Amino acid sequence: MSTFRLSQLPISTGVLKLPIIHFEEIDSTNAYLLSRHSHPSGTIVWADFQSAGRGRLGRSWMAPPGEALLFSIYLKIHHSETPLFIYPFLTAVGVLEGLQNIVTPNWLALKWPNDVLLKNLKVCGILVQSKTSSGNNADVIIGIGINLNQNSDFFMNNLPFAGSLFSITGKKYESENVLAKLIYSIDQNLVVLNDSGTDPILEKWRKYCPYIGQKIKVNDGRNIHSGVFNNISEDGGLILQTGRTKRTFHAAEVTIVREK
Ligand code: BTN
Repeated sequence: MSTFRLSQLPISTGVLKLPIIHFEEIDSTNAYLLSRHSHPSGTIVWADFQSAGRGRLGRSWMAPPGEALLFSIYLKIHHSETPLFIYPFLTAVGVLEGLQNIVTPNWLALKWPNDVLLKNLKVCGILVQSKTSSGNNADVIIGIGINLNQNSDFFMNNLPFAGSLFSITGKKYESENVLAKLIYSIDQNLVVLNDSGTDPILEKWRKYCPYIGQKIKVNDGRNIHSGVFNNISEDGGLILQTGRTKRTFHAAEVTIVREK
């Protein structure tokens, strides 16, 4: 383990703490921060390789050494003041805005709740885990995995809806450079959240999601529901409209229905 100063860009931060803690290899940056209580709020842990990366809905997250950008952020929050639901949305907005400096901005989109897509392929996964500690305090761990330099063979068989920045744009990317841009934009959104609350973050999320108003399928783990993606609710739920009925989902998998 070593601490790492982002030398390429002079970034200053409002909420996040520098220098970054860097590992060549770790089981999972999320697991590391979940099991340590000594770090200050705003700590960032970055790894070149994870042997047991964790994904959403109990899945694992795999990437060959050095080919993905893998990092986690630790925040200590008061959940009576800042609701936990906002962090996946805020992180997706921050990642998308950071990537706007790196790839063609209008190729980027968000898919509910927190996938970041480039040309309709998922290039970033976000896993937010939390633990309530004493009273109103909660520990929030925000894990971010960006597919940077894997080639398309990596996704072909098992991950047909995913890609890397390289497999999509044909260019190779430096982790350190992408990390600096993402930290800057996530930090800016954390400052917006502290100053102005959840509304401006959800407003940006809606702006970056082109699927609102489109036909989707929602898999809630038991049934698949078809309808139109009406909106996201004030607490981040997905509102699906089927005929005249509206239903809100808080944990589900969304598929976009492409018109033939
Ligand atoms: C998803 O399933 O889409 C979320 C994947 C999140 C992966 C990142 S990689 C860095 C951090 N550490 C982990 O173990 N998982 C997250």
